[in-house]
Amino acid sequence: MATLTDEPKVAAEGVAAEVRRRRTFAIISHPDAGKTTLTEKLLLYSGAIELAGAVQQKARQRHARSDWLAMEQKRGISVTSTVLQFEHAGRCVNLLDTPGHQDFSEDTYRVLTAVDSAVMVLDAAKGVERQTLKLFEVCRRRGLPVLTFVNKMDVPGRDPLELLDEIESVLGMAAVPRNWPIGAGAEFQGVYELTSGQILRFERLARGERAGLVGTAALDDPGLDLLVGERPARELREAAELLRGTTPELDRERFLAGRQTPVFFGSALNNFGVQPFLEALVDLAPSPPPRESDRGLVDPETSGFSGFVFKIQANMDPQHRDSMAFLRVVSGRFEKGMAVDHSRLGRRLRLPQAHRVFAQERETTTEAFAGDVVGLVNPGLFVIGDTVSDGLGLTFPPLPRFAPELFARLRPETTDKNKAFQKGLRQLEEEGAIQVLYETDAIRREPILAAVGELQFDLVQSRLEQEYRVATRLERLPYTSALWVRAQPRQAAELDWPLRGVLRVEDRTGQLAALCEGRWVEDLLIEKNPKFELARIVDERTAVTP
Ligand code: G4P
Repeated sequence: MATLTDEPKVAAEGVAAEVRRRRTFAIISHPDAGKTTLTEKLLLYSGAIELAGAVQQKARQRHARSDWLAMEQKRGISVTSTVLQFEHAGRCVNLLDTPGHQDFSEDTYRVLTAVDSAVMVLDAAKGVERQTLKLFEVCRRRGLPVLTFVNKMDVPGRDPLELLDEIESVLGMAAVPRNWPIGAGAEFQGVYELTSGQILRFERLARGERAGLVGTAALDDPGLDLLVGERPARELREAAELLRGTTPELDRERFLAGRQTPVFFGSALNNFGVQPFLEALVDLAPSPPPRESDRGLVDPETSGFSGFVFKIQANMDPQHRDSMAFLRVVSGRFEKGMAVDHSRLGRRLRLPQAHRVFAQERETTTEAFAGDVVGLVNPGLFVIGDTVSDGLGLTFPPLPRFAPELFARLRPETTDKNKAFQKGLRQLEEEGAIQVLYETDAIRREPILAAVGELQFDLVQSRLEQEYRVATRLERLPYTSALWVRAQPRQAAELDWPLRGVLRVEDRTGQLAALCEGRWVEDLLIEKNPKFELARIVDERTAVTP
């Protein structure tokens, strides 16, 4: 599994070859569609883990070690993102896991800025669900290529043709099936590969077992009826006939532009079609492409080292109480202890100790390439969105911040805990776990939490209590949106504020915002202030750098 060795082994000219074999992707899905199961099976088939179930087992052990994660366990959600790296077929695959619960979608969105393609998992009975659609929108905006895995074909689901239609009509991209299910529900027994013309038959095995493929056949085999049953064989021949006339070719350019998605049917739980999917994934998913910066496109192979921080996670291990910054290498080669330019701080510094992180396990990293993710021990040097490079003098665009819709004042239960309270909250803000604002006209500088989802409040309170020993009280506020005001502090005095339904706030950097009680207040504020730019923060184009 490991590609990162103790000694830097690749000479400069070898960087391009290493970059070309990188495949960096994330899995997007609605909760329960089977993302965790598919992740586990991809690791199993790549040989990265010996037994399926290991990821979940590890997760359970982690839960046992860390108290606040009990919240995840209790609610059956996954909050902590992980980065998994494994080798398959000569490719080095980086799978960036994303939290599944919708309240943590902001974190998920940031992860999507650090990948080069996405796998969309659909539940065959449910099709394109709400959360899938939201995440897909982010992929579309980033122009990410998407591969589709239609999961749970072993239980009664919707007609495959209908699912393809839904992908096309709801997501607006052409769906190109790469295989076709043989039988459905209890009769599901394999897939017909449209690419090779082979029929792959699988067998249901005990959970966690790896084999499953029991044989291959061709569509015109005389014994097919006996092999798969008369009805499934007839239906398959009919479907193959129909598809031959109607299915477009997979066009690499259109796939890379996110306008076509190759679709694979299977069952992650039963290992049906997972291995062929893995082969297709490493074959079709692109290696790291060039990335936009303020100094033009950065070429991953020839530009020299650069990268950006897309995630900060503190207290991953309560024993160590440290913070880790996750750096996506955009170009060139990362080396242990190298000196880099930190563009926000405007100075050169030696990179702190780096780790490769497999789930929550760490290993020291000495070398990494464009496409990889390294975890940097973060003694307060990095915030989300920071760029580092080796003498390239560039900055990558800011990461998206999203429009909060829920607001609450947060206070420590007792005043003697104020210091720990401030420290903890600052850490959580730097991680991007929540946005923190302060009322500009208040005598006491009390933090106002701004969240995209309800669960973020619970997360903050729970982590403050577990990690900083501060019990807090939350007071919900009636505001429903925040508008950022782009104005110099001097100009801000000229703003015409409505009398009611609005609260003047600022973030830690002094960026002014207005919390509004309803859409009408927002409209009124905009109407009264035509000279000012007032914007909801919804995507990369309107993002404000922290
Ligand atoms: P998620 O990460 O997208 O939220 O989904 P996850 O993999 O946790 O799967 C959600 C549920 O769906 C799990 O059942 C899982 O076993 C089941 N599942 C995943 N893939 C398939 C499949 O191909 N076929 C069928 N029939 N089920 C599948 P659970 O009951 O919630 O958990 P568990 O009892 O399996 O632990």
